Amino acid sequence: MSDILSEIRARRTYYDLTNKTTVPDTALEQMLQETLRYTPSAFNMQSARMVLLLDQKHTALWEETLRILKDMTPEAAFEKTKAKIDAFKNAYATVLFYNDDRVVASYAESYPLYRDNFAIWAEQGAGMLQSNVWMVLESKGLGASLQHYNPLIDAFAGRLAGVPESWRLIAQMPFGVPASEPGEKSFLPIEERFKTVR
Ligand SMILES: Cc1cc2nc3c(=O)[nH]c(=O)nc-3n(C[C@H](O)[C@H](O)[C@H](O)COP(=O)(O)O)c2cc1C
Repeated sequence: MSDILSEIRARRTYYDLTNKTTVPDTALEQMLQETLRYTPSAFNMQSARMVLLLDQKHTALWEETLRILKDMTPEAAFEKTKAKIDAFKNAYATVLFYNDDRVVASYAESYPLYRDNFAIWAEQGAGMLQSNVWMVLESKGLGASLQHYNPLIDAFAGRLAGVPESWRLIAQMPFGVPASEPGEKSFLPIEERFKTVR
């Protein structure tokens, strides 16, 4: 599996994960740093931020997420919620994706002509980063999923990760060596979604 198209095809959502990794923590850190460094951003503003939660911090994130959800989930549905969150907790680690709103605001101020676009571009840049991280993890035999418990967990996650107030949580990506493969995925006819014109 060497070419980029194969990596794009291979990326899937993995919920069934183990607390094992194929890549040691230091290499993992470097890999994520490089992905963050080289993912593009509008005006090269580099507003995306990432936190790698390992060990106790990873576990604490999902334990607290479950506690928060317990208060808001009907009792009948809670068992299902707990199974889902426990699966994330049983993974190896979690990447938190943030955008630094202070950076976005400063670009909006500096470039009034494009003022309203920077927040949109920052979200698009965050999406590119998430996709790149997802594929890089997949390329190393690590399965991941993309979660959105923000804004419910923002305050807690911010304290846990020790991030500045201006960092806004965008997504959470628990990952680890997969315990099983995801099921078949369906695709719309590509002709409905793509055309070539000349
Ligand atoms: C922007 C975006 C948001 C997503 N949010 C969630 C989410 O909150 N929870 C979740 O379990 N999956 C989430 N997903 C995963 C999608 O459901 C999944 O990628 C899609 O069903 C295709 O499956 P695949 O990832 O296996 O190819 C998200 C994906 C994208 C691109």
